[in-house]
Amino acid sequence: MRNYNSRTRVLVTGGAGFLGSHLCERLLDGGHYVLCVDNFFTGTKENIAHLLPNPRFELVRHDITFPLYVEVDEIYNLACPASPIHYQYDPVQTTKTSVHGAINMLGLAKRVKAKILQASTSEVYGDPKVHPQTEQYWGHVNPIGFRSCYDEGKRCAETLFFDYRRQHNVRVKVARIFNTYGPRMHPNDGRVVSNFIVQGLKGEPITIYGDGNQTRSFCFVDDLIDGLMKLMQTADDFTGPVNLGNPNEFTIRQLADKVIELTGSKSKLAFKPLPSDDPMQRQPDITLAKKALGWQPQIRLEEGIRKTIQYFQTLLAPGAAA
Ligand SMILES: NC(=O)c1ccc[n+]([C@@H]2O[C@H](COP(=O)([O-])OP(=O)(O)OC[C@H]3O[C@@H](n4cnc5c(N)ncnc54)[C@H](O)[C@@H]3O)[C@@H](O)[C@H]2O)c1
Repeated sequence: MRNYNSRTRVLVTGGAGFLGSHLCERLLDGGHYVLCVDNFFTGTKENIAHLLPNPRFELVRHDITFPLYVEVDEIYNLACPASPIHYQYDPVQTTKTSVHGAINMLGLAKRVKAKILQASTSEVYGDPKVHPQTEQYWGHVNPIGFRSCYDEGKRCAETLFFDYRRQHNVRVKVARIFNTYGPRMHPNDGRVVSNFIVQGLKGEPITIYGDGNQTRSFCFVDDLIDGLMKLMQTADDFTGPVNLGNPNEFTIRQLADKVIELTGSKSKLAFKPLPSDDPMQRQPDITLAKKALGWQPQIRLEEGIRKTIQYFQTLLAPGAAA
């Protein structure tokens, strides 16, 4: 097996996005060459501006729904808008990114014999009837709803990963990522943590959809990136899918209260109707990640929220380019 500490040429699709930019940073810190590919749909140059001077970092504007011909050893396929506001903006393009994008990246992995990791999602479980979700659970997904372009796109991408393995012996890894938060989340993406923090910092009402008793588990970005990198290092016979997330569950209401406390905000809570297909409960079972990767989240919600608040404070400061 390749020694991961040797210098590896790594392609990160979606590398200018929230998770991708942190991954690029960590791979460069590890001494690797990083090719960041992004069409800047939701990602920004600001997210990776600090990496541009590094001679081992290269940035290519490219849409992965079109083929890409490069020489690399490893591929992290993260390209795909992740927040409902963004993925529902152009649902056909979302499905294309998941499905055509997966075909193009798997084709590339096959050609250059690269190892490839798919950033899948807990959304493949849909509105789960099993709690917490293990990787064996097949999910409960609406195939024709507003979220389907993302949920079914990601499910089909998983299918493609396993078919490329069975049919073409491509070395694949599939991570099912649960809610992740941290610096460089998009401030207006409607995701719950960024929403609450931005509203809290601006002193605006904190919007809770439904009664706030629905639960989520939140993983801090540094922990998640550790998990992705550990998964990439596993032996070729370990493919996943493997859940990566934080099993500590909080209600949305508890999160709102925590954000108000840590921002010192005077914001009040504003309750709105629950959007369609919004799951009531989402919690990963990470037994497999613990066993196979020796991984579990280390950063407590309070610490992660504090770091995220610091980021948004800078971003929202007068004169900052938000
Ligand atoms: N953040 C989470 O909580 C979470 C949870 C589950 C899964 N994921 C998955 O992780 C990945 C990264 O998510 P994120 O939170 O960083 O989202 P993000 O929107 O910040 O990043 C996605 C990146 O992909 C780029 N992109 C989108 N379509 C593209 C295309 N066709 N070609 C090239 N680039 C394209 C965007 O410009 C952006 O930089 C996504 O695949 C997402 O589905 C994230």
